[in-house]
Amino acid sequence: MDFWTDKKVLVTGGASFIGSHLTDRLVNLGAKARVADDLSSGALENLHESIDRIEFLQGDLRDRDFTRRAMEDIEVVFHLAACHGGRGFIDTHPADCASNMVLDGIVFDEAMKAKVDRVCFASSACVYPTQLQVKPTNGNMVYLKEEWANPFEQGCAFSDGEYGWAKLMGEMSLKAYNKQYGLKSVSCRLFTVYGERENETHAVIALIAKAFVKMDPYEIWGDGQQDRNFTYVGDIADGMIRAAEKITDGSAINIGTAEHVKIIDSAKMIFEESGFNPTSINFDTSKPVGVFSRAADLTRTRSVLDWEPQTSFKEGLRKTMKWYYENKDVADVAPRLGILLTER
Ligand SMILES: NC(=O)c1ccc[n+]([C@@H]2O[C@H](COP(=O)([O-])OP(=O)(O)OC[C@H]3O[C@@H](n4cnc5c(N)ncnc54)[C@H](O)[C@@H]3O)[C@@H](O)[C@H]2O)c1
Repeated sequence: MDFWTDKKVLVTGGASFIGSHLTDRLVNLGAKARVADDLSSGALENLHESIDRIEFLQGDLRDRDFTRRAMEDIEVVFHLAACHGGRGFIDTHPADCASNMVLDGIVFDEAMKAKVDRVCFASSACVYPTQLQVKPTNGNMVYLKEEWANPFEQGCAFSDGEYGWAKLMGEMSLKAYNKQYGLKSVSCRLFTVYGERENETHAVIALIAKAFVKMDPYEIWGDGQQDRNFTYVGDIADGMIRAAEKITDGSAINIGTAEHVKIIDSAKMIFEESGFNPTSINFDTSKPVGVFSRAADLTRTRSVLDWEPQTSFKEGLRKTMKWYYENKDVADVAPRLGILLTER
C-alpha cells in the first residue's frame, strides 16, 4: 500500500500559502488530513480544493489544550504554523518571529506525548550563516550545504535574524526529541518559495504586484543585484512529502533549487510576461533586502530523496502571474500596496 493511503496527517498552518498546497497534495495521495491553523495569516479560501475532504480546526497552537486536541490519533505531523512573512515583514517584526520558538516547542512536545509516528518541520534557508551569503568573490557562486548550519559546531551558526535563529532552534529542538525520545523527524530547509496564493511581502509576488498596478517609476528594493533560488511551491510540497517518507533521524535537508536568479532579472521577466514596461526603475537601497546571494546545494537532496525541484523559474513565474492577474483587482491592490509589502 502506498505510504500516504489513509495516513492520518496533521498539517499545522495548513491554511497558509505553502500549507494549503501541501494539504491538497496529501489529500490527493489518499491521506486523511486535519489542518490546525489560527488563520492569523492563512485563509480558508486557500483550502478551497480540499476543504470538503479535510478536518479543519481553528485555534492557536501556543495553547497546549488546542494542540493536544489537534494531535489526537495523528500519525504524521507537518509543522508549518509560524509567525512569518517576506523580508518586509520579518525585518520589522523581530519579536513576533522570535515567538516561533514557543510555538515550535509546544508542537514538538505534544507530538511526542501523542506518540505520533513522525514530524516534518518547515525550516528555512534563513538558518544558514549570513556571512556565507555575501557577494561572491571571483564570480564563484555559493551553494549552501546542510552541514554549514549546525548549532553544535563552532563557527557554523549565525542565522539570518530572529526568524532564522528561531528556525535553527526549532531544528535543534526537534533533533533533541529524536535523540531523547526517538521521535522520528526531519527538518526541511525551504528556500525562497513562490507561487499561487503567496502574499505581497515576498519578493516575487511584490514584483508582480508592482507591475500589476503599473507602478512607474517601478520600485525595486536594493540595487537589484541580489539573487535568490526562487523555488516553485508545488516542488516544495513534493519535496516535503518525500522528506517525510524517507528521513527519520531528525536531520535537515535542503528543499530548493540550485538556480541563482537576480532580482533585476526576475523583474525583467515579469515585464516581458506582463507587457508592462516602466519608463524608469527606482532602486531603493534604504529598504530591507536580506543577504546578497542564496541558493541550495542539492547533493544530499538528490541522493537521499532521489529528487530535485522540477519547475523552471520561467514556468513557475508564468503560472504565478496568471493566478495573480486572474484573481486580483487593481482598484483593491493599488491603494494598499504599501501595507501589503510589509504586513503578512
Ligand atoms: N514562504 C517562504 O518562502 C518560506 C521559506 C522558508 C520557510 N517557510 C515556512 O513555511 C511555513 C509556511 O509559510 P507560508 O509562506 O506558506 O505562509 P505563512 O507564514 O502565512 O504560514 C503560517 C501559517 O501558520 C498559521 N499560524 C501562525 N501562527 C499560528 C499559531 N500560533 N497557531 C496556529 N496557526 C498559526 C498562519 O495562519 C498561517 O496559515 C512557515 O513555517 C514558514 O516559516 C516559508
